[in-house]
Amino acid sequence: MKTTPPIHRRQFLKDTAVLGAAVGVAPNLLSAESTSSAGPFKGGKIRVGQIGCGNVSGSYLPNLTSQPFIEVVSVCDIIVERAKKRAREFKVPNVYPNIDEMLAGVPFDLLVNTTSMPSHFPVNKKALQAKRHVWSEKPIALEVKDGKELLDLARRNGVHFWGSPTCVTSPQFKFMAETMASGKIGKVTAGHGTYGHGGPGWSGWFYQKGGGSLYDPTRRVEDQGEVKVEADENTMLIMNHGKGVLSHVQTGFVYFDGERLAGEGRQLYTIDIMATKGTMHMQGWDWGPGGVDVASQGEAVLETFCKDPGKYNWVGGATYVAESLLTGTPSLITPEHALHVLEVMNACHQSQRTGRRISVESTFKWPLFS
Ligand SMILES: NC(=O)c1ccc[n+]([C@@H]2O[C@H](COP(=O)([O-])OP(=O)(O)OC[C@H]3O[C@@H](n4cnc5c(N)ncnc54)[C@H](O)[C@@H]3O)[C@@H](O)[C@H]2O)c1
Repeated sequence: MKTTPPIHRRQFLKDTAVLGAAVGVAPNLLSAESTSSAGPFKGGKIRVGQIGCGNVSGSYLPNLTSQPFIEVVSVCDIIVERAKKRAREFKVPNVYPNIDEMLAGVPFDLLVNTTSMPSHFPVNKKALQAKRHVWSEKPIALEVKDGKELLDLARRNGVHFWGSPTCVTSPQFKFMAETMASGKIGKVTAGHGTYGHGGPGWSGWFYQKGGGSLYDPTRRVEDQGEVKVEADENTMLIMNHGKGVLSHVQTGFVYFDGERLAGEGRQLYTIDIMATKGTMHMQGWDWGPGGVDVASQGEAVLETFCKDPGKYNWVGGATYVAESLLTGTPSLITPEHALHVLEVMNACHQSQRTGRRISVESTFKWPLFS
């Protein structure tokens, strides 16, 4: 189990300044700004090139191809059979075996990067260098210095760059952010986020260097058979957000997942917010929330709010930013947020390696429109 060493509170507050983070405890409530601008897009549609045709592309492509304002023009995978299969399934006209041929081929506006994590940085970089807008699955890179390079490159080349997390666009996330901002539950003092399961069985890279979160001697996976596990199995990250606010995030690939989190009217909490005048709990996974339970002074019984997911879809991030690109409407998803998440993850590994508390410098604007 990964833990930070025992904490002397005063020293902890001095040494550590982790801002924001995955559970949504941000130090200040700034409104998100527009990160988009409308451009002249051919036929009034955003032309998408999807790279990485593995597991998650099977959920992305139905979402992308069902939008009237998106045309998926090409798919690409280094295992080209996978790209051909997706092209047949979703009637995509062009198939490429690597990013270079894809960029040199049929033009597109937005690259949707769903490759394995170690490929995110090199693929994102090539696309930004070629002046394409980019949506990247998490993390945008493995190292924060590379993430910064990508943000700078996008800025210099006048293109947009977005990365997961998408969950800031869910009505439940908005409800929680608004409830915190309203003061209804008082001052937030602690948060807890949890994510994990028994681990993916389809690709070995999840367990190798640059993957995570798992450590176990070996694993059996579909694409490689028996793999030696090099990445973390089980992480418990403790963060100090300043002014006495603490949170922890736990994640692992060693959790019993026979349990049903969703369905049959029962959902576990995955995000908890503790505050001076109330508590708030998200039902279900952050990426597929089922409602928010709130108790506050005067209403000390938990009441469920915000059960309707609306238009929100966990694989809808690329579609969301494509619409933002086309219409010029502001985006709640920002590259600064993705970079901050990466810096927190890097700091977690560094803390584990060195046994020290690590300061986090990056910030992002609170993803809430006023
Ligand atoms: N599978 C899920 O449910 C899920 C959910 C949320 C996020 N994600 C994220 O989506 C990404 C992909 O996950 P996955 O489960 O689909 O993995 P996967 O291993 O099933 O698929 C990744 C694909 O990318 C291809 N690829 C790798 N490097 C490439 C490169 N340089 N150029 C072209 N193709 C390349 C691989 O050949 C593979 O087909 C990861 O970042 C993962 O964290 C996955």
